[in-house]
Amino acid sequence: MPVVTFTVEGRDNCVTAGVEAYMWARTAYGSFVLPVRCPHRGGPLNLANFEPGRTRLVCPWHGRATSVTKAIKAGVPAVRRGNRVTAVLPDTVKAEVCTTEHRPVSKVLSGR
Ligand code: FES
Repeated sequence: MPVVTFTVEGRDNCVTAGVEAYMWARTAYGSFVLPVRCPHRGGPLNLANFEPGRTRLVCPWHGRATSVTKAIKAGVPAVRRGNRVTAVLPDTVKAEVCTTEHRPVSKVLSGR
């Protein structure tokens, strides 16, 4: 289980390992480590918005909706300290290929 540390926002706000990527999401319903890759066909969930009037994030590619409350409960174990997050990624992620980079984030996932 790789343990990674990355920033909440700005440069290095996303940790990637091959095609997998994770970033900190701050929503009106709570904060959590978001797997950026949509399970449908890999769309960018970092650019998702909420379904109007619901707690579901909608992928910008094909509109698949994901419950944000379920994502928080079943999510990646993580702790935030200041501007940094330390997370324990799934066993399927190889620690030796983890890098950080910047990815844009939608307004509803940035806490604004
Ligand atoms: S890639 Fe996300 S809904 Fe298709």
